[in-house]
Amino acid sequence: MILEALEVLKNRRSIRKFKPDQISDEQLRAVLEAGTFAPTGGGTQGVKIIAVQSPENVAAVDALNAKILNKPDMHPYYGAPTILLIFETDASFTRELDGAAVCTNMVNAAYAVGLGSCWIHRCKQMFETEEGKALLKKWGVTENLTGVASIALGYADCDAPAPKARKEDYILRV
Ligand SMILES: Cc1cc2nc3c(=O)[nH]c(=O)nc-3n(C[C@H](O)[C@H](O)[C@H](O)COP(=O)(O)O)c2cc1C
Repeated sequence: MILEALEVLKNRRSIRKFKPDQISDEQLRAVLEAGTFAPTGGGTQGVKIIAVQSPENVAAVDALNAKILNKPDMHPYYGAPTILLIFETDASFTRELDGAAVCTNMVNAAYAVGLGSCWIHRCKQMFETEEGKALLKKWGVTENLTGVASIALGYADCDAPAPKARKEDYILRV
């Protein structure tokens, strides 16, 4: 069991081409649950995860991220049918570190349940815009949220890229 977990951590890769098929509810629930069990500073659980699956909302987030990138024709979520948005809440005192831990748990869990994923940046910037704030309002969010990270999630439609060799001086043992 321990070995299997280590294999997941080592073999997960960022996927940048997805099939249009939606993931199963069971897979989504497993990934989300793994996120909720990530460590958070002081155990505050000061993180909110929003799972975006309706094609309309997925398209809106994809377009908003592309706008931040200043590349309106790009699809920063690579056609993934599910987008996970990770926010820090005001309850968190270790702020984006908590969200990063949640995000890491979820990309690894995604791999463990047979899904492809890619951590996607610019969540903070997206939800600082009026457009981003309007989306949160539309989704009924009333709490104050600050974007941390996001994830493109779906079935991979490509081979996983080979990992880069790990740099020589990654680790110092003293
Ligand atoms: C904070 C952070 C931001 C990232 N943002 C993006 C992004 O916006 N788009 C993207 O394609 N990949 C993004 N990635 C994925 C990295 O490019 C990827 O993890 C790295 O190249 C190593 O590849 P691997 O995940 O396959 O091991 C991000 C990763 C992290 C940790």
